[in-house]
Amino acid sequence: MSIRVAVALSVPLAIALSGCAGTVTPVAKPTPTHTVTHTPTPTPTPTPTYNLDDPAAVTVIVNKHRPLATVDYEPTDLVIPTSITNVNGFALRAEASAALDQLSQAALSQGVALSISSAYRSYLGQQNTYNEYLGILGEAGADLRAARPGYSEHQLGLAVDLDDGNGCLVNVCFAGTPGGIWLAANAWQYGFVLRYPDGYAGTTGYEFEPWHYRYVGIEVATAMHNKGIATLEEFFGLEPAPSY
Ligand code: DAL
Ligand code: ZN
Repeated sequence: MSIRVAVALSVPLAIALSGCAGTVTPVAKPTPTHTVTHTPTPTPTPTPTYNLDDPAAVTVIVNKHRPLATVDYEPTDLVIPTSITNVNGFALRAEASAALDQLSQAALSQGVALSISSAYRSYLGQQNTYNEYLGILGEAGADLRAARPGYSEHQLGLAVDLDDGNGCLVNVCFAGTPGGIWLAANAWQYGFVLRYPDGYAGTTGYEFEPWHYRYVGIEVATAMHNKGIATLEEFFGLEPAPSY
């Protein structure tokens, strides 16, 4: 009996002694943080501006929508490349010629002997080239292969047709020759781009020309290579030029 009473009284007594039913958890005072974040002022990356209109600019873009600004344009600094086989003595503008000499020396050091099959063509020279194709292929076929006079990169002195003597002169099979393979992989390092890649006639206006390289300078050629961009039209944000 006495034990039962003692148990009945023990719970209220414990509550009274504790003072309150809750538990006080000490809250730590926050330690002030003094972190100062220095946000560097962003240095604006200048967007390169390229001259796409002046036929004397190495970045000029000529296509079926963009004839040369003056149809009878003639470069003033044509020279004949000397470090590459060039039996017909074709010329290029000095900067492109020097770059091609370097390119051909590098190719030769890797066992690839390149030669020039065409380079600068005057307005009249281009007229002859276009008319030859016109006679063979008719207008639709010729327009996929040769530019009409006043619309050709060859008139800029910045385009060169290359061969390696493996029987694919000005033929799509050049793409599979050692020369064609070497150029496709390395020409950009010397400022040249494959101007009419396979499958882009809807953009460039021309079928695949694995022999035709256009000098645009190392900066543009490298940027195109690094971005994986196939055509100059796309690189410069220009409209496709499939036809005149
Ligand atoms: N073969 C290129 C398109 C030209 O004639 O300029
Ligand atoms: Zn060409």
